[in-house]
Amino acid sequence: MTLSPNDLDAAVDLLARGGLVALPTETVYGLAADAADDDAVARLYAAKGRPTFNPLIVHVLDLDAARALVEPTPLFETLARAFWPGPLTLVADRLPGAPVSALAAAGLDTLAVRVPSHPVAREAMARLGRPLVMPSANRSGRLSPTRAADVTRDLGARIDAVVDGGDCAAGLESTVVDARGERPVILRAGALPRPAIEEVAGPVVDPYTDDERAPRSPGRLLRHYAPRRARLRLDAAAPQPGEAFLGFGPQPFAELNLSPEGDLTRAAARLFACLRALDEAGYARVAVAPIPHHGLGEAINDRLARAALGRRTPSL
Ligand code: TXA
Ligand code: MG
Repeated sequence: MTLSPNDLDAAVDLLARGGLVALPTETVYGLAADAADDDAVARLYAAKGRPTFNPLIVHVLDLDAARALVEPTPLFETLARAFWPGPLTLVADRLPGAPVSALAAAGLDTLAVRVPSHPVAREAMARLGRPLVMPSANRSGRLSPTRAADVTRDLGARIDAVVDGGDCAAGLESTVVDARGERPVILRAGALPRPAIEEVAGPVVDPYTDDERAPRSPGRLLRHYAPRRARLRLDAAAPQPGEAFLGFGPQPFAELNLSPEGDLTRAAARLFACLRALDEAGYARVAVAPIPHHGLGEAINDRLARAALGRRTPSL
C-alpha cells in the first residue's frame, strides 16, 4: 500500500501496532519499525532477508533522545552537534536500560544512532513518540531505494505500507562513524563526506588498519548493493562491444549519465536509480566511467566496488 505524506496518521497507526512501514529519509528510503517491539523487529529482519547478526540503526528526533539510549563520548557530542539532523550515524556504548529490542542491536553492547532531517521521517517519529529502527528498505544485499516505487518493487507485499515522499535528496546511505574513542572511525563511507568530519573532529581512523584487523561494522559484507543481473566494469574510459555505458562528465556515448556536468552530489543522488534502470533494461554488462575519489566520490566508489562484485561472489 502506498500512502501520501498526508496519510501519515495511518502509517503511524501501523507502526504503533507493530507494522512495517517504509519512510523517506534524506539519504534513502528506510523500512521503519518500532525499535522497542521485538516482534516487529523480527518481522523486519525476515521481510528484508537480513542476517540477524547485522544490527539496525536506531533513529531518534534529537541529541537528547539519543542520550536516553547511549552513552555519548565528547567526540559523539561534537559530531552530533555539527551534523544532526543529517546523514551521519554514530556508534556508541548502549545504556543498559535502553528501550531497544536486543535483536535490533544484534546482541552487541553498542548502538548505532541517527537523527534524520527528512520532515516525513521526523513527523512519523514525533507522532509515534518512540525511536524507529530503519534499515534501507530493500531486500538484503540489493541496491538501496531512492524512490517509493523502488521499495514497492523490492519489498511490495512483505511490508504494510510505503509513504511516498518523492526522490531522496542524497541518494546514498548515511556515513557510519564509531564515536566511542577519541578519534572518529568511519565504518561506512556515506552521504556525509570525510572532509566534513575531519574539519570538526580531526583525522579519521581507517577501520581496516586498527588493532582489531577487522571491519567493526557487521554490515560491511563485501557483496552488497548488487544489481540483479548487470555485471559492472569500473573505471572504464569507454564501453566495449556489448556493454552499456554509465557515464560521468561529458560523454556522448553513455546510455545513462550520473552527471554530465561532473557533479558528485548529483551523481550520488542518481547512482542507485541509474543502476536499477540499467538492470531493468536487461543489460548483462555495464561499463562505468571513472568517478573521482574525493568528497562524496569516496562513498560512490565504495558502492560501485561492492556492486561490481555482483553475483560471482559467494554470499558471506
Ligand atoms: O542512511 C541510512 O543510514 C539509512 C536510512 C534509512 O537511515 N539506513 C541504513 O540502514 O542504511 P542499514 O541497516 O541499511 O545500514 C546500517 C549499517 C549497517 O552497515 C550496520 O552493520 C551498521 O549500520 N550498524 C548498525 N548498528 C551498528 C553497531 N552497533 N556497530 C557498528 N555498525 C552498526
Ligand atoms: Mg542497507
